Amino acid sequence: MPIHEIRHPLVRHKIGLMREGDVSTKKFRELTAEIARLLAYEACKDFPLETVEIDGWAGPVRIERIKGKKVTVVPILRAGLGMLDGVLDMVPSAKVSVVGIARDEETLQPVPYFEKFVGQLDERMALIIDPMLATGGSLAATVDMLKRKGCRQVRALVLVAAPEGIALMNAQHPDVDIFTASIDSHLDGQGYIIPGLGDAGDKIFGTR
Ligand code: URA
Repeated sequence: MPIHEIRHPLVRHKIGLMREGDVSTKKFRELTAEIARLLAYEACKDFPLETVEIDGWAGPVRIERIKGKKVTVVPILRAGLGMLDGVLDMVPSAKVSVVGIARDEETLQPVPYFEKFVGQLDERMALIIDPMLATGGSLAATVDMLKRKGCRQVRALVLVAAPEGIALMNAQHPDVDIFTASIDSHLDGQGYIIPGLGDAGDKIFGTR
């Protein structure tokens, strides 16, 4: 199933705190990182393991470790950066790729303006991070970019998802699993998610 709404009480509690109208920048940033950790934990739960033998304190011991190339985390500028530390807390050896997407004000289409990807994307799982899945344009464009580079395993972590964005992703990238703390009601006329969190980038960076 491509959309996973995490119903864990800690996630439900924390996303509720983020909806406070007068939430401080500090609190919003902390909660973003905390939920990012929990979403990352969920998104990694089916990663394949391999068994290896190591020298333990009492002699050889067989341990399990995650198999394959290191994951790449892909924050979408700017708000995605707010989730980066939380995800790296859970996956500390991940490599980081960065994508910047702007919106063409005439066509309203997403236009990539920055990309810096790590190598060997064909062998890595990509975890895209962006707090708000609104229309889905930026997320779909980021998946397009990753797939053009050969990446075949893509997941997305978003704090809040709108049905409109989920529908676009289902239509364009049904192979991408999305992990979210909440599926909200709808987009308003300006493209904000209702009830949503407001402008997540402004709240993370204190620019509102
Ligand atoms: N981006 C945001 O920051 N908030 C929304 O509600 C939608 C897009």
